[in-house]
Amino acid sequence: MDVIDRYVRLKRSGANYVACCPFHAEKTPSFTVSPGKQFYYCFGCGAHGSAIGFIMAHCGLGFVDAVHELANRVGMNVPQQNSEVANHGTDTAALLDMMVRATKFYREQLKSSPRAIEYLKTRGLTGEIAARFGIGYAPDGWHGLDESFGPACSDTLHRCGLVIENESGRRYDRFRDRIMFPILDARANVIGFGGRVIGEGEPKYLNSPETPLFEKGRELYGLPQARRAIRETDSVVVVEGYMDVVALAQHGVENAVATLGTATTPAHVHKLLRQARQVVFCFDGDAAGRKAAWRALESSLEHLVDDRTVAFLFLPQDHDPDSYVRKLGAPAFRQLAAEAVPLSDFLVRELKSRTDPVSAEGRSRLLADAKPLIARIQAPLLRAQLVRMLAELGRVAPAELESLFGLKPLARRDRTSAAAPRRNTSLTRRVLRIVLQKPEWSACIPVELLPVGDPEADALRTITHAFDHGELPAGRLDMVVEYFRGGPHESLLDAVYRELEGERTDEGSMEAVFVDAMDRLRRHGLSREIAALNEKEKVAGLSADERRQLAQLLMQKQKLASLGAKGQPH
Ligand code: CTP
Ligand code: MN
Repeated sequence: MDVIDRYVRLKRSGANYVACCPFHAEKTPSFTVSPGKQFYYCFGCGAHGSAIGFIMAHCGLGFVDAVHELANRVGMNVPQQNSEVANHGTDTAALLDMMVRATKFYREQLKSSPRAIEYLKTRGLTGEIAARFGIGYAPDGWHGLDESFGPACSDTLHRCGLVIENESGRRYDRFRDRIMFPILDARANVIGFGGRVIGEGEPKYLNSPETPLFEKGRELYGLPQARRAIRETDSVVVVEGYMDVVALAQHGVENAVATLGTATTPAHVHKLLRQARQVVFCFDGDAAGRKAAWRALESSLEHLVDDRTVAFLFLPQDHDPDSYVRKLGAPAFRQLAAEAVPLSDFLVRELKSRTDPVSAEGRSRLLADAKPLIARIQAPLLRAQLVRMLAELGRVAPAELESLFGLKPLARRDRTSAAAPRRNTSLTRRVLRIVLQKPEWSACIPVELLPVGDPEADALRTITHAFDHGELPAGRLDMVVEYFRGGPHESLLDAVYRELEGERTDEGSMEAVFVDAMDRLRRHGLSREIAALNEKEKVAGLSADERRQLAQLLMQKQKLASLGAKGQPH
């Protein structure tokens, strides 16, 4: 209840509380929270879950992060697994606290700086939007923070990157006479700042350095503010600048985020594709923009997913999203976003323009350039489409191209994913990893053949049983893990959950691995029964029935071996 109330404004209604659902757009509240049952449910869209599930869904966090978030909110400390974070545990809290104080300080300073306010107005921003993004002002002068917070805070300010120390050990404010944009992480903690000069000046933007809180290649500016719109549109627009995000929001395009003065990284793409089905990268229409777009494409390849779209929007010359939306308005911008070039088209178009495939040489260069790019794609359907497009251009048959590129069928390919985990992962662990994601598949597991005394097998028996009795929510990994919290399998399931977190799999390869695992399970099971009977024969001899059983088992085993998993070692 408290947890949800922090994110959604709840109103009492009898024993429950109601609100407009944060998971879908609605005007009349159908989102219900039951404090008694510690559960939420939306009658509109069916979203439901526990407090942890809520934070995961609402903040787009993984399970472990959501637990920490929840614990933080109630002032608890969760033991950390990650040793790096562990060392900084309490430190981090102090730094985060200081960042909040600094944000408030800059906000206050903005109120008393007519010049800074005027600047924001000339950029077309209202007070409301400035407040929404926590925009502030760092006053001119060298010791604004020190003087305001006192010497006791100096070390913390320094570790936050807000204060710089020179060679002689003297400290001074990093940000002076700048418009301040707080950078929030997915949990809406302030982890850094971007500071813009008022008017002209160099550098135009000054950013926080990397600190224990702030890792540039991962964070996206504006994500917490954009979250709701991203969910509603199932789409996210990625721009380059702070001002672009804020200006777009000002005009009603609220699903925009920005990379922070760095190129788009695979970590960015991974994060983005977790939030929405469509990711639109927005770049200037000039050569630099195309280059940046190509880098974003390269960062995207390994994270592409078959049911999600990455697309590229190129603005007209001399425009950035801020200037465009201000001049032409939100509908025109949305139209551009709707017409964005899908990654596959951009990739082919770009390769074509680089290699001029009108000659055999040009075509072979095109294919040579394409090869390493295609090799990084893990989405089988999308890869097949691209292979077809390239084969046509290169005038080879698609199958030929696949073999020229040395492409292995993706569904069966070994990679570090839930479907095909590291080589030394046991059979039962592999099955458990899949069943946690697909509890409904547990119905196919021959439980009687699971090994005895194996922790993963024990967990699988429990899950299968719970699912058979209709006790498990289908298809929600976090809820499955949640369901078994407090039981004997808790730590195992948490560990597997952590393994899975951040990994991406496609259903096709997961299914292939699952089917293969079931085969192996049956063969292992048969082998065990056969071995037991053989053993018995040596010691006590077999009855006629047992003999028949043994013959049958041997036949079954042979059949299985010749059917499935041909040539695959145990
Ligand atoms: N940037 C930066 N340091 C600079 C210039 C740019 O970190 N010296 C980053 C900032 O995140 C900035 C983004 O790159 O928002 C885009 O830069 P640019 O296009 O030059 O700025 P705009 O976003 O257009 O800023 P403005 O409209 O305020 O001029
Ligand atoms: Mn701009």
